[in-house]
Amino acid sequence: MTTAAAYADYGPKLKGLLAGRIVTDFARPDRALDEITAFARRRGVGAVLTVNEYLTELAAHLCAELGVPGNAPDRAGAARDKAAMAKAFTAAGTRAPHTVPVRSDAELRAALADPRVGFPCVVKPRSGAGSAGITVVSDPADASAAADGAREVVGPYGSDGGDSGVLVQAYVAGTEYSVESFTQNGDTTHLAVTRKQVTGGAQRVETGHTLPVSLPPTVEAAVYREVEAAIRATGIRHGASHTEVIVSGDGCMVIEIGARLGAGQIGVLIQHALGIDMWAALLDVALGRPAALAPSARGYAAVRFVTSPHTGRLTSLYGFPRTGPGVPFVRWRVAIGGLVREPGANVHRLGSFVVTGLDAGEVEERADVLLRRVRIHVEAVPENTGQVRPASTSAIAP
Ligand SMILES: Nc1ncnc2c1ncn2[C@@H]1O[C@H](COP(=O)(O)OP(=O)(O)O)[C@@H](O)[C@H]1O
Ligand SMILES: [Mg+2]
Repeated sequence: MTTAAAYADYGPKLKGLLAGRIVTDFARPDRALDEITAFARRRGVGAVLTVNEYLTELAAHLCAELGVPGNAPDRAGAARDKAAMAKAFTAAGTRAPHTVPVRSDAELRAALADPRVGFPCVVKPRSGAGSAGITVVSDPADASAAADGAREVVGPYGSDGGDSGVLVQAYVAGTEYSVESFTQNGDTTHLAVTRKQVTGGAQRVETGHTLPVSLPPTVEAAVYREVEAAIRATGIRHGASHTEVIVSGDGCMVIEIGARLGAGQIGVLIQHALGIDMWAALLDVALGRPAALAPSARGYAAVRFVTSPHTGRLTSLYGFPRTGPGVPFVRWRVAIGGLVREPGANVHRLGSFVVTGLDAGEVEERADVLLRRVRIHVEAVPENTGQVRPASTSAIAP
């Protein structure tokens, strides 16, 4: 499943490969389900898949309607809506931070007073993604503004963001990882553990990923146990999953799960480090064919994201890497003259590049050296004063 905007960006070659298309409205999932089901039956469609987190629930329902491999439709919402996710985790015994849905200021105050939440705590939208609208709240006085920020997040298909509510969650200290997994007929294979670099402070934006990370065996076993519990809890039976966890001396806590491939170039990292084509695997799983999930390479890969230290207009960029040996992928997203923001969500990242190699430490070091070479110049945009404050800055993320 794709969107009209994504389709518009397809090149002529890709458009030429498509056997057909249907236009429907993802903001009306019931109607979309009926329309796509009818289309798929007419065309004899044999598989349904999506790489779009917001469409995973619809995809599960379509798979069930069409009788093709997919996830449990009655639980698919729990891999999207973080309130349902928290309930599913509790029911399945998955270790996860205590989570309280709040719909009013009174409920917010009650949640903050709950000893299972405490301070700092995390305020987040129920069905957001990409760190949008997430605030780590250390001072009770900041909680109401944080809840407003979470409420403002609106998903791509209308009001499935903040309108559906806000959550207050216990804060988990520790190191953040994600696990990329594929499940076929209920059997799960983990492809890699990825270590995340995340900004500190009130907003948490992912600024780097490195994989594969090798954890001490007991820690790895604990991580995989919780990830598998999260996969079962959310009814993932046939498909990819991306599970985010935080590991500390107290063990492993699951922060969230998505019934999709990892974003943020994780697929590119896996392809280059381990030789696994996650997109081909996704298609195989959707078609009910055995997926090729064994690594054919034993390398390492890291991605680094460039962020702006403050809001303003991007006036110059120097030192951004080009593709070449050991740098298979680069992407810059903002034109010179464009507005940039200090990162409040993943969407504010300006660009990214991937570094690969055969030595884990060397890959990490080279990625950081290349990031330090990136220089951006951001001119403050005057608000009411009419003044422009230029600032030359290193683009390195904290
Ligand atoms: N309970 C928590 N404890 C500590 N950090 C958290 C917690 N919840 C979220 N975060 C931080 O915020 C980031 C985004 O939160 P997450 O729940 O993953 O939302 P999203 O769906 O937007 O990615 C996480 O990657 C993590 O750094
Ligand atoms: Mg996340």
